Amino acid sequence: MSDKVILAYSGGLDTSVAIKWIKEKYDMDVIAVMIDVGNEKNITVVKQKALKVGAVKSIVIDAKEAFINDYAFPALQADAMYEDIYPLATALSRPLMAKLLVGVAREEGASAIAHGCTGKGNDQVRLDVGINTLAPDLKIIAPAREWGMTREETIAYAEKNNIPVPITVASPYSIDECLWGKAIECGVLEDPWVEPPDDAYTWTKSPDNAPDKPEYIEIEFEKGIPTAVNGRKMDGISLVTFLNELAGMHGVGRIDHIEDRLVGIKSREIYEAPAALVLVQAHKSLQTMTLSKNQLNFKQMVTLKYSDLVYNGLWFSGLRQDLTAYIKSTQRFVSGTVRLKLFKGSSVVVGRKSPFSLYSYNLATYDKGDEFDQSASPGFIHLWGLPSKTQAQLQKLNQD
Ligand code: ARG
Repeated sequence: MSDKVILAYSGGLDTSVAIKWIKEKYDMDVIAVMIDVGNEKNITVVKQKALKVGAVKSIVIDAKEAFINDYAFPALQADAMYEDIYPLATALSRPLMAKLLVGVAREEGASAIAHGCTGKGNDQVRLDVGINTLAPDLKIIAPAREWGMTREETIAYAEKNNIPVPITVASPYSIDECLWGKAIECGVLEDPWVEPPDDAYTWTKSPDNAPDKPEYIEIEFEKGIPTAVNGRKMDGISLVTFLNELAGMHGVGRIDHIEDRLVGIKSREIYEAPAALVLVQAHKSLQTMTLSKNQLNFKQMVTLKYSDLVYNGLWFSGLRQDLTAYIKSTQRFVSGTVRLKLFKGSSVVVGRKSPFSLYSYNLATYDKGDEFDQSASPGFIHLWGLPSKTQAQLQKLNQD
C-alpha cells in the first residue's frame, strides 16, 4: 500500500495536475480535500473531478461557519487591515485550511499534506507554517513550487494525461475567494498603471452603474460582533453574504493596492470585499463612541501588529493569541448600532448609538443644559502649557 497524502484541492488546473504529478513523482495515494470557505460554486463537480483525475478519495468540508466565527469576526473585532487597506480575506482562510488539512491527515493516517501554492506568494508561508506548527511530523509537498512548469507546460501536461483543463484557465486573472473577500491578480493587473478592467470585478457593480438613490443601512453589534442588519437578526454567514450583495450592488468594496508580500515582492492586488469594508468601518465608528481616547490609541498599535501577524502566516503564534485576548477585553462595551449611507461606490457613517456611549450631550453641547465647567479651563491650560512655556523661555526655542 502506498503512503497517503492529503491535497488541498480547488478543482483548478494546478491542483488537478498535482494529483497526477504526485502519484508519478512520489508514488503516493492522493486524498483530495476541498475546503469551502464561501463562494464555492460547483462543489459536487469539483468533488467528482478529483476522483476522475485520480484521487483515491475526495472530501468536501463546509468550513464557512468556522471561518466567519473563529477567523473573520475576531479579525473584525481587531479592525484587522493589512497595510491599512486589505481586510485579509485570503490570509484569514489559510490557517483554518491548515488546521482542517491536519485533521484529515490524522483521520486518514496520511504522512504528508500537499497544496497548490507557488513559491512566490504568501499562501505557501501561511499553509506551511500552519501545518508545521500543528503537525511537525507531516511532510509538505508543494507541486507548483517544485515542478518548474510554465502555465503552458502545465496545460500540456494536463492534456497529455487527460485532465480536463477548466475553462477558467481562459480567465485572464488568478482568483481566490472566501466570504470575507475576493482577491484578483495577474494578467493586465500586473501593470500598476492600468485601471482594472470592469471584468476583473464580479462582486461589485461599477459605481457608475450603481443605483442613483442612496441606501441607508443599520448594523447592530454586540461586543464587537455584528448581529443584525436593519433590525433583522442574522447569523454570521447570512449577515456577511447579505452585506456583500447589498454594498456590492452600490459599488462599495473595491480595493486597488500595491502590496508588500512577505517574500519581498511588491505586487498589484485587486480585491472586492464589500461586507468586510463596511463592517470594519462601522465597527471602528462604534468604537469611537464606546472606547476611551487611550483605548482607541493603543488599539491602533494592536491592530497594526495583529494584521501583520495574520498576513505573515503567524496565526498559530502565542502573540496572536495574546493579542486576541486583549482585543476581546476591549470589546466588552462595543455594542450598539451604526447607520451608514451607501451611494455609488461610497460608504459613509452617518449615525451611531450605544447603551454604553461615552458621548455626553451635556458635556458637549453649546446649547442649554451645558454642564461643562468652563471656569476650570484657564487653570488646566496654565498647567498643561507650563512645560512648553518654561522650556521655550529657558532654551530660547522660538527666537527665529
Ligand atoms: N495577496 C493576497 C494575500 O496574500 C491575496 C492572495 C491570493 N491568493 C491566491 N492564491 N490567489 O493574502
